[in-house]
Amino acid sequence: MDPRTSHAVASTAATSPKLSAKAERFTESVIREMTRLALKYGAVNLSQGFPDFPAPAEIKNAAKVAIEADINQYAITWGAKKFRDAIAANFQRTQGVSVDPEREITVCCGSTEAMLSSLMAIINPGDETVVFEPFYENYGPDAILSGATPRFVKLHPPDWTFDPDDLAAAFGPATKAIILNTPNNPTGKVFDRKELEIIRDLCLKWNTFAITDEIYEHMLYDDARHISLATIDGMRGRTITINALSKTYSVTGWRVGWAIAAPEVTAAIRKVHDFVTVGAAAPLQEAGALALQMPASYYETLAREYLIRRDRLIGILTNAGFRCFKPRGAYYIMTDISAFGFPDDVAFAKYLVTKIGVAAVPGSSFYREPADGRNHLRFTFCKKESTFQAAAARFADLRLAR
Ligand SMILES: Cc1ncc(COP(=O)(O)O)c(C=O)c1O
Repeated sequence: MDPRTSHAVASTAATSPKLSAKAERFTESVIREMTRLALKYGAVNLSQGFPDFPAPAEIKNAAKVAIEADINQYAITWGAKKFRDAIAANFQRTQGVSVDPEREITVCCGSTEAMLSSLMAIINPGDETVVFEPFYENYGPDAILSGATPRFVKLHPPDWTFDPDDLAAAFGPATKAIILNTPNNPTGKVFDRKELEIIRDLCLKWNTFAITDEIYEHMLYDDARHISLATIDGMRGRTITINALSKTYSVTGWRVGWAIAAPEVTAAIRKVHDFVTVGAAAPLQEAGALALQMPASYYETLAREYLIRRDRLIGILTNAGFRCFKPRGAYYIMTDISAFGFPDDVAFAKYLVTKIGVAAVPGSSFYREPADGRNHLRFTFCKKESTFQAAAARFADLRLAR
């Protein structure tokens, strides 16, 4: 090697430019890390929320047709018209909310980007966001990246209720928005009307936005009903409703989601979105337009099949010694692991993935203070029967080890 080159490499390493202080404030995703560990150790993956069964044939076919028809160039940055029209019609049908697809919808690269672009569109230095805890782990880095200071409000097991006084105490003059996720990951909680009205009252009192992540809207059990925050009196103009194709149509890898908000808010979200990603995949938006017009029977079957999967996994976990908090929505089961006598959730999750062969997500990744989640592990049930059978077989070793 040329000695001058090697010197240059060495001196660059010694004095490497400083990295972003923001990026240093969060770690890589624990959930995605668990999937990598599952692959490494050949474990049954009940950690990350992606279905291991096929997506609906007609939706896949619509994507193929779109590619074949050469819908392969940039769509309009805020979303293909056909897809935005379908999103508007769908929101009208499911929640009775009428939105203008020309001025109130931004199609993004998954609900992940919709959430971050929305936050970046509304947050100024010094702004705070209110977040229920345990929370979907992205909301932590989302706050850091957008510059918001999160204020956490605890959801208490077993029903994951919140104390209205705690919520009131988290709001103040610096509050810019509350972030809500219903049906909820990781708890399976479905917020009811009374709770949404408490949230509404605080949003009105402090003149804040609400960003609501409703990606699990169709996964509901035991008569739970999904109510969009935007339908609560007074909330239509101040709610940013986020959703995606990912979970409802079993296409988490497509990366197509959207944000619905009042025109002036949408204008800001669209600007951020345009310069961050330009747009979501054009042919997949075409397929999305078809997906959003699936008949009611599609959603009934989806919920019915997920109910069977939920009860199947609760049976397996209970049998293996976990205490399960029965979810009323979404596709995760939070468990209490105290009975296993491990020092904490991370140690137990590592033991499970390396020695037993099942991957789950440590509860601490859903809390600001890791100690608050040390007695929890989260499992997902968006898996096929053969995966459940494999997990049940592996858990037999866990029972024997106890
Ligand atoms: C609550 C919640 N929001 C958003 C996402 C990510 O959604 P998308 O794939 O649309 O980016 C997930 C994925 O697990 C989630 O659980």
